[in-house]
Amino acid sequence: MNEIADDQNGQNGLAIRTRALNLWYGDFQALYDINLEIKKGLITSLIGPSGCGKTTYLRSINRINERLGYVRTEGTIAVLDHDIYDQGVELAQVRKQIGMVFQRPNPLPISVRDNVLFGFELHAEGRKRMHRSEKDEIVEQALRQVLLWDSVKDRLNKKATGLSLEEQQKLCIARLLPVKPQVLLMDEPCSALDPKGTKAVEELLWELRGEYTIVIVTHNMAQARRASEECIFMLMGEVIEHADTAEMFVTPAKKETANYIEGRYG
Ligand SMILES: Nc1ncnc2c1ncn2[C@@H]1O[C@H](COP(=O)(O)OP(=O)(O)OP(=O)(O)O)[C@@H](O)[C@H]1O
Ligand SMILES: [Mg+2]
Repeated sequence: MNEIADDQNGQNGLAIRTRALNLWYGDFQALYDINLEIKKGLITSLIGPSGCGKTTYLRSINRINERLGYVRTEGTIAVLDHDIYDQGVELAQVRKQIGMVFQRPNPLPISVRDNVLFGFELHAEGRKRMHRSEKDEIVEQALRQVLLWDSVKDRLNKKATGLSLEEQQKLCIARLLPVKPQVLLMDEPCSALDPKGTKAVEELLWELRGEYTIVIVTHNMAQARRASEECIFMLMGEVIEHADTAEMFVTPAKKETANYIEGRYG
């Protein structure tokens, strides 16, 4: 019975399955034999000292790295059961399933409303001809989901670049939602925010969990502890430990993890 339910869920409840992933920038190997199973609907944090490969791994999941001609990858990453490096896979389809948020909010220099609709219209031609009221609804829904509606509802036609950093980062998350991605990848999404903005974005992640699978890179141990359910610790291009967050912070299985969590390096 369980097996059937698991099967319907795809990959036995896994959102991202990475097998034997190795990655080189030219001659430099940045990732070594990464094997990871990231569960559907959870928030998983990715921690480790600067240069350990967190961003590189995150970028492998939506194939941004390959824009660089000198990057070589071996191994497989399956997102919801589809091998994204398979030759038959369309990059646009991969990107549609996976939304990405960066360290610095990067809204387009157009209105708040148009920012929310931009990706949505890009991903399906016919949508441009949608009725205005339908689009209004999409905009409102996305902004409500990121807890931004009340503060920007009177500024929908103002330029997004005029919003506060916290508002901009929430908007960058909001604009992913109408495309209906399954997975949200966030590379230190709070690093440009003050403590209040950080708290607001963390609360938002918690709202989105369940509906989306979220992978968040953070340097902030307190944030990893507060805002994630599972945690992956990386060191020098390798995964050292992947465990339940509470467990990892209380009883890390590896000495290296304990050293990092206790602030002995990085
Ligand atoms: N575009 C690139 N070309 C060459 N080497 C790179 C490139 N990007 C990253 N690297 C190298 O790959 C390794 C991993 O980098 P990465 O940015 O993934 O680390 P990180 O864990 O995200 O670090 P940080 O916490 O500082 O963001 C580092 O040694 C880095 O210098
Ligand atoms: Mg990084």
